[in-house]
Amino acid sequence: MSFRGPHLLGIRGLSRGDIEEILDSAGTFRAVLDRDIKKVPTLRGKTIVNLFFEPSTRTRTSFELAGKRLSADVVNFSQSTSSVVKGETLIDTARTIEAMPAEILVIRHPCSGAAELLARSVSASVINAGDGMHEHPTQALLDLYTVREALGRVEGLRVAIVGDVLHSRVARSDILAFKTMGASVVVCGPPTILPPGLAEWGVDVTLRIAEALEGADVVIALRMQMERQNAGFVPSLNEYAALYGLTRERLDAAGGRMVVMHPGPINRGVEIAPDVADSASSLILNQVANGMAVRMAVLYLVAGGASA
Ligand code: NCD
Repeated sequence: MSFRGPHLLGIRGLSRGDIEEILDSAGTFRAVLDRDIKKVPTLRGKTIVNLFFEPSTRTRTSFELAGKRLSADVVNFSQSTSSVVKGETLIDTARTIEAMPAEILVIRHPCSGAAELLARSVSASVINAGDGMHEHPTQALLDLYTVREALGRVEGLRVAIVGDVLHSRVARSDILAFKTMGASVVVCGPPTILPPGLAEWGVDVTLRIAEALEGADVVIALRMQMERQNAGFVPSLNEYAALYGLTRERLDAAGGRMVVMHPGPINRGVEIAPDVADSASSLILNQVANGMAVRMAVLYLVAGGASA
C-alpha cells in the first residue's frame, strides 16, 4: 500500500523515501506553527471527519487542530453520541458521513484492521489514528520526527522500547518505522506482555531493563494498557514499576545520556518515574507539539498535495 494511495493505514508498506517525504513536509508545517498566524489555506473547502470509537485526548485534539490549521472544516464524531449506540455498523456510519460529503476520515477504533476495512468501503481518504493492537502510524512518524529534531538523525541510533508491547499499536508502528529509517531496536518487558515471535521482527529482545538501556540513544516507555489486559499479565503494577519502571537510577546506571519518550497518556510512577518524565532529557512534550505538524503533513499528502 503506497502512501499516496490515498490512505495512511500503517507504517508497513511505506518506504524510507515515503517516510522522509512526510517528515520533510512536517518540517515545513512546523515552521507555520511557529508563526504568529498559525494557519494556511491548504485544505480550504475540504471536510475532515474524526471518527473516534475509543477515548483519546491528544490524538483527537492533534488531528482536529491540524485540520483547522490547514483551513479545513473539521467535524468530530464520537461513538457515545452517535447512532452507533442504536446499532448502526461502522461502514454504514462512515458512508453516511462520507455522503455529506467528507474528503478525509480519521479513524480510531478498538478493532485491529478497522481502518483498512473502512478504506475498502468508502471513497474518502482514510487515516488510521490507532486500530486496536495493530498500528498507529502518525504516532510513529511523530516519534521519528522528534528524534531527528533532537538528535539530528535516526540512522544508526539504538532505540529501546520498554513495556506492554503485546497490546501496543505504538510499538508495532515504531518498530517498523525506526527500522525502516536505519535504527536498531531492542524491545524489553516481562515475558507475558512481549508478543511471541518478536525476534522475527528484526529486533533484539531482552527481559532485563539494564540490558535494554545499555548503549541506547532513545528509550520509549509504553503505557501499561490495563483496559486491554483482561487477565493477570503482570502480578501487580507496583511489581512492574519496581522491575521495569524508567527511573533516574536506571538511566544513570546506563550512562544517562539517552532521550526519553512516551506516547502518552503516562501512568506516572508505573512505567516512568515522575522525575524522569519531567527531566531535561524527556521529549514527551516535544512529541505532542511535533504531532500536530506531522498530522498536518499527513492530511496534506493524503489530500493529494506534493511535498510541502
Ligand atoms: C497511544 C494509543 O492510544 O495508542 N496513545 C496515543 O495515541 N498518544 C498509546 C496508549 O494509549 O498507551
